[in-house]
Amino acid sequence: MAITTCIFDAYGTLFDVTAAARAAAQEPGNHALRRIWPKLAADWRAKQLQYTWLRAITGEYCDFWQVTQDGLDWALEAAEIDDPALRERLLALYWALDAYPEVPESLGSLRAMGMTTAILSNGSPDMLAGAVGSANLSELLDDILSVESVGVFKPDARVYNLVGQRFGCSKSEVLFVSSNGWDAAAAAGYGFTTVWVNRAGDPVDRLPAKPHHILPDLSNLLGLL
Ligand code: LAC
Repeated sequence: MAITTCIFDAYGTLFDVTAAARAAAQEPGNHALRRIWPKLAADWRAKQLQYTWLRAITGEYCDFWQVTQDGLDWALEAAEIDDPALRERLLALYWALDAYPEVPESLGSLRAMGMTTAILSNGSPDMLAGAVGSANLSELLDDILSVESVGVFKPDARVYNLVGQRFGCSKSEVLFVSSNGWDAAAAAGYGFTTVWVNRAGDPVDRLPAKPHHILPDLSNLLGLL
């Protein structure tokens, strides 16, 4: 069946999760971050994701804002930074992450083709609304779907079910786009056609299912359709 619905992961796919640490490192007073911000950003993201998987496995759901704070606290301690003001600044920046430069045009082109476009994210509704609003993407999305309504994180199938429940489409009508290799793989196993946006040039994840397509960024998405 032809693709009618393009669903996007949010963090890392539309929004640059390294932007908060990079921006804070450039601000006066945050000298401690100048050299180490890439490692801090990587640790923050890695722990944030690990905590979502562990909480999904153990049935201890909390919202994504909590795991975002917990991941940052781990990363700051690993960097031997004890600075409550910097912690608050990094968290504030996470509500207004930069969108990748090609995102508005890509979403706009899909909408011009008549595609339904939406986010499906671990993010809590208020975090996602903040990021979408600050990047001016509201007009380019039909909806923002959050795992909060099912109380479990990706890659639980109940999360991917939200797409069919919201848009009434079959799995074969969905193109699912994620920069997280594990998310693209899990969504392929679920039954969506998937695109892994491999921005970092990483190896393919060794998981039961593989993404159908791999792109370096979102700019050539239309070519797949
Ligand atoms: C999300 C995370 C996985 O937006 O990036 O769901």
